[in-house]
Amino acid sequence: MYKKEISKAVINRLPRYYRYLGDLLEKDVVRISSKELSEKMKVTASQIRQDLNNFGGFGQQGYGYNVEYLHSEIGKILGLDTKYNMIIIGAGNLGLALANYADFERRGFFVKCIFDIAPSLIGTEIRGITVKNAEEMENYIKMNKVDIAAVTVPKTKAPSIASDLAKWGVKGIWNFAPTDLNLPKDVTVENVHLAESLMKLSYRLSGNDIE
Ligand code: NAI
Repeated sequence: MYKKEISKAVINRLPRYYRYLGDLLEKDVVRISSKELSEKMKVTASQIRQDLNNFGGFGQQGYGYNVEYLHSEIGKILGLDTKYNMIIIGAGNLGLALANYADFERRGFFVKCIFDIAPSLIGTEIRGITVKNAEEMENYIKMNKVDIAAVTVPKTKAPSIASDLAKWGVKGIWNFAPTDLNLPKDVTVENVHLAESLMKLSYRLSGNDIE
């Protein structure tokens, strides 16, 4: 889509712009000046302009930003104008918490199925989503469009499960297991390591700052 190389820092800020603009939309705000946006988001106006200029810029001098337009354009940049089918591997504490969170659907991420190996879980339902036997996973992926697999299994199991998912054609892995996954380049992995995030909090509580 966007051929230009965009820095990670900019990409990391976009979801926050998107969320913030979504909140403004819910309050029926039609437009916002870059100054107001910058004050509310605690990001300098020039930072916002620079970030958005990476994608052509969306503001107009003297007008500011049209909230709905900017929200929808950032959504497109983030690929949120697409609908993603997601499966969850591991129906434990975390897998069930993800499955229970209906808000992902608002962003275009639809949890279609959950897989587990525990007989006590197989056949149960969470918000109408069935937990299937992990043995059925290969067949399911081959017969259904699966864009993203959330991996919420113990860390010892995650690498081999992720390799299987890649082999069966899943291109997006949302990995919650605290382990690194080595997958082919055409598979995109987003790691969510909660303990690492806590360690950063601990670092900052010790009086340090992180850029
Ligand atoms: P859990 O033990 O509650 O759930 C793991 C589930 O995976 C179980 O239901 C188990 O039957 C299933 N499972 C095991 N092998 C499987 C396989 N081959 N195929 C399909 N399912 C399989 O664990 P929890 O707490 O949900 O954590 C899951 C992962 O997320 C772990 O790697 C953990 O380290 C990580 N994590 C969890 C956090 C949490 O708040 N629960 C926080 C940070 C990381």
